[in-house]
Amino acid sequence: MANQAAERAGQLPPGEARYPDEPSTQDIISRDKVAAPGWVRSESYQFLGDEDISTDRYKDPDFAQREYDHLWTRTWQFACREENIPEVGDYYVYDIGRHSFIVTRVEDDKIQAYYNACLHRGTMLRAPGSEGYATEFKCPFHGWSWNIDGTNKNVLCDWDFPHVDRDKFTLPQVRVERLAGFVFINMDQDAPPLAEYLGPEFMAHLDAWKLENRYVHCHVSKVIPANWKLTMEAFMEAYHVIETHPQVAPSNADANSQYDIYGEHVNRFISSLGVVSPHLKGQVTEQDVVDQFTVGDASILGDADRTLAEGETARQRMADMMRVMFEQATNSDLSGVSDSELLDCFSYTVFPNTFLFAGISLPMVYRFRPVPDDHRKTIYEVLFLRPVPLDGECPETAECVHLDESQSFTEAEGMDPGFGEILDQDTENLFLQQRGIEASAKQGLTLGNYQEIRVRHFEQAVDRYVGGGA
Ligand code: FES
Ligand SMILES: [Fe+2]
Repeated sequence: MANQAAERAGQLPPGEARYPDEPSTQDIISRDKVAAPGWVRSESYQFLGDEDISTDRYKDPDFAQREYDHLWTRTWQFACREENIPEVGDYYVYDIGRHSFIVTRVEDDKIQAYYNACLHRGTMLRAPGSEGYATEFKCPFHGWSWNIDGTNKNVLCDWDFPHVDRDKFTLPQVRVERLAGFVFINMDQDAPPLAEYLGPEFMAHLDAWKLENRYVHCHVSKVIPANWKLTMEAFMEAYHVIETHPQVAPSNADANSQYDIYGEHVNRFISSLGVVSPHLKGQVTEQDVVDQFTVGDASILGDADRTLAEGETARQRMADMMRVMFEQATNSDLSGVSDSELLDCFSYTVFPNTFLFAGISLPMVYRFRPVPDDHRKTIYEVLFLRPVPLDGECPETAECVHLDESQSFTEAEGMDPGFGEILDQDTENLFLQQRGIEASAKQGLTLGNYQEIRVRHFEQAVDRYVGGGA
């Protein structure tokens, strides 16, 4: 308790205390056999204040409206993956609140995004959430049509529209940028370029991951009964692991996870696996950690003897097992990949509504969008991005499985049941949290200085946009 007491006594600056007498994430990673790259080995924490976070942001419909007016209209958002629209004419409709955009491949190496609305009397040209292939975008009402490059193709009875200059009736566009296989859109013509918005440090991290060489192996969507920000924040810290996911704690260094912030729009945690939770110190042996280790298709691990040699750590054995397992499962060469990248959870928030995970064991993307007209509900999507196999044959992009609110994540095809259980645990708390915030006498959330820094950093970004700044 020495450093906590010191912080309370004012001897340590706020935010500097860490779980006492435990190795840090960097200490754990520094002992690995296959060394981690620079983006893993860096730290970027900053104390951002300790005042409560006001809860009107989660329960006030006016706040949600201000988000639509000032936040969603001005931020870069992950609309789809490039493999969703591989051929010229392929399109994907990205919806956010009342806004809707047709993202389409116009040329082999050119993607554009149009406001999804007819320039005659406003009908949507494609249904929300739809995707497919088009040779033209034709309105289902009176049949006006546009070429896939957005130029007007046909105005029915154009003799009746002498006031319409068809050369000017091109579909209005939003900005598009492509990065690491992701297609981003931004409604704000004055927003900074995506690389500037994300910042140079994160761009360097992303460059190392080569997510452009992945494909969507599994895609699941579910409506969650809580505000979109609350839903995101359920995944921003490992502080909840010991209470919410007790089955994980014996092999997760939860309370000594590392938290970092990068500029205004990106933050992360690194949570190490193969290391016992500090909360369970003395209760679980290294051998226990290896013995209870199962992930994915357990049969791939075979019946190999798991007895640890003298001095061998559970973490090292798990890294070695994971390397073999994932090489076989994905037909890829992981010999140059560090133990940390194989084992650990690297969770990055890309403001406003995307999480990217860099590791091999949890190669995920999360996307969170408010349900239109209901600020208490969120569309939560989980995508697993697997490396493209060595033979270069890229499997089909997975179709999205839509779960209804009562279904378990374990029911989704392609979802590892153990991981589905974790997502169920995460999301089952959210109904109670949303309703508890509304029922509470207390009008603010009280956050830990270190372990909940991502929540504060994220909400400060929300405030900058909603307050009209940014
Ligand atoms: S509303 Fe689209 S053609 Fe009339
Ligand atoms: Fe969790």
